[in-house]
Amino acid sequence: MNLILTKTHLFVNFHLFLWVCHVFLQNLHQYIKYKKMKVAVVGATGMVGNVMLQVLAERNFPITELLLVASERSKGKQITYKGKTYTVIGLQDAVDAKPDIALFSAGGTTSEAWAPKFAEVGCTVVDNSSAWRMDPSKKLVVPEINGNVLTKEDKIIANPNCSTIQLVMALAPLHKKYKMKRVVISTYQSVSGTGVKAVEQLENETKGVKGEMAYHYPINRNAIPHCDDFLDNGYTKEEMKLVKEPKKILGDDSFSVTATAVRIPTAGGHSEAVNVQFENDFDLGEVRKLLAETPGVVVQDNLDTNTYPMPIYAHNKDEVFVGRIRRDESQPNTLNMWIVADNLRKGAATNTIQIGEYLIENALVGTEVV
Ligand SMILES: NC(=O)c1ccc[n+]([C@@H]2O[C@H](COP(=O)([O-])OP(=O)(O)OC[C@H]3O[C@@H](n4cnc5c(N)ncnc54)[C@H](OP(=O)(O)O)[C@@H]3O)[C@@H](O)[C@H]2O)c1
Repeated sequence: MNLILTKTHLFVNFHLFLWVCHVFLQNLHQYIKYKKMKVAVVGATGMVGNVMLQVLAERNFPITELLLVASERSKGKQITYKGKTYTVIGLQDAVDAKPDIALFSAGGTTSEAWAPKFAEVGCTVVDNSSAWRMDPSKKLVVPEINGNVLTKEDKIIANPNCSTIQLVMALAPLHKKYKMKRVVISTYQSVSGTGVKAVEQLENETKGVKGEMAYHYPINRNAIPHCDDFLDNGYTKEEMKLVKEPKKILGDDSFSVTATAVRIPTAGGHSEAVNVQFENDFDLGEVRKLLAETPGVVVQDNLDTNTYPMPIYAHNKDEVFVGRIRRDESQPNTLNMWIVADNLRKGAATNTIQIGEYLIENALVGTEVV
């Protein structure tokens, strides 16, 4: 009798042990603690790079070694991160240091030339430029929408254009529910989207000081319908990014998009007037609820209190703000809304860092574990 009991005990305990091992292995990635996470910020002296450092610190990104990288012009400059001073290094020195992750915001030309060199030494690059976005072999990612497409083999990952990110954050839940047919976008874009020189141009103009021009025209008290270069079809590159990138992120090219991108003298974020025609009809209350329940989206829409999104309030925030939600009464199943976000945060730095976090959380980057 005792012998049978002992055997049963052993049998049960053994199976319990197997089950515990199984659960542990299934959730291994949650227990993984990386010994090292060498992070390179490429373009650390720029607009996006600066915000990137701010966001990395705020979110306590698990950095064990930080490399701050910029052009030859900035080599040797000192930058402080979390109270420690770092010396800016050049691109080759950064490649030689073999980082685990490189967060790039140094323009398309730099990215085309250098991202593959970082990838070759085993580094995962998350790139803010437009260099890789439409390359069919590269993933274009907004983690809340399509983070699940990422794999360990993705060594160069593209961060979408700033205007695209805030647009798709609001469109994704609505497309899933009502199926988009056509989207018409007009943007009102912040000078910070052009970089340091453009912010300086606006500051100089407001002070009446002569200085270097980032645009062909004055931007203060102006609206310039010209973001990025013109293409043969008469659209700008920025407008065509808005046409193409949402289809790639949503994995669906059944809907059509047209856009007009305009630069205005604001600095806190980009705004977009968006008109969406759906295949199916919608209820406005349900649209507001869907948006309000979407992580990363905040509905600011109360006409009684004059509540609607504005760049001055979106500035320095990670959320995408949506308001002025109303039916387009000129045609069926069509919605108008106003979308605002800080282009340097969710439009660039925050989204890049969220991709990095996704890679770490899902054990898609780095190798050493403790
Ligand atoms: N601003 C936005 O809202 C936004 C949003 C999404 C994506 N982006 C993209 O992010 C990138 C950077 O934009 P930004 O606004 O931060 O521009 P920025 O303020 O002009 O900064 C550019 C950064 O790139 C570095 N850089 C330039 N040429 C380089 C080279 N040959 N080698 C190494 N580093 C080089 C600069 O270093 P130095 O200081 O040494 O010149 C600087 O750190 C661009 O590709 C842009 O399209 C910008």
